[in-house]
Amino acid sequence: MELFVAPSILSADFARLAEAAQAVKGSPGTPGADWLHVDVMDYHFVPNLTLGLPVVKSIKASTDIPLDCHLMIEDPGRWAPTYAEAGAHNVTFHAEATDDPAAVGRDLRKAGAKAGLALKPGTPLEPYLEILRDFDTLLVMTVEPGFGGQEFLAEVLPKVTEARKRVETGHLDLRIEVDGGINADTIHAAAEAGADTFVAGSAVYNAADPAAAVAALRTAAAIR
Ligand code: DX5
Ligand code: ZN
Repeated sequence: MELFVAPSILSADFARLAEAAQAVKGSPGTPGADWLHVDVMDYHFVPNLTLGLPVVKSIKASTDIPLDCHLMIEDPGRWAPTYAEAGAHNVTFHAEATDDPAAVGRDLRKAGAKAGLALKPGTPLEPYLEILRDFDTLLVMTVEPGFGGQEFLAEVLPKVTEARKRVETGHLDLRIEVDGGINADTIHAAAEAGADTFVAGSAVYNAADPAAAVAALRTAAAIR
């Protein structure tokens, strides 16, 4: 299982996003960010406001790193496909924000992106097991969405393990991503629970050398 590290630019300097992308590129012999995680918040689904489509387009034009857009917004059925059309590699929206997540997932694939379904810490996985075939990514939030720098909620990990079992028994091609409080101390537990894709904001961008922080996370995640 190939592990992906996805630095979240939520913890970067919003006036210097192109530099933030550049800062997590690898160097010969050291792989950098696999995805660049972009948190879109609308001040309604979550009590915070970040950036939207025009900024995502500018980031896309400034880097080759595949964009992993995490939409914490209302009405994803209306807005999510526009991020796919803008060239995002993966577009994840919240299950809690729509009545028909499977339809939104299919629309995202039709629009040319990978489709991701996100679950808040308190949202059970069980009601969504049947629609995972319409998705390429399951994002299990390990903090309440809205802000960087919060403490990792280890009690969410059984949901990751349940999803991993489903991937194996159902032969699903699905990345299991964790987001929130991921750092060198917590990433290994998430990997052991069955996650293969790790979002990290403050652990990467509050570090003196963001590329080295990505490499350190990859090492710490490796299942021994
Ligand atoms: C929070 C965001 C996260 C955030 C994670 O709602 O979805 O992607 O950037 O930040 P850290 O890694 O600092 O918890
Ligand atoms: Zn996120």
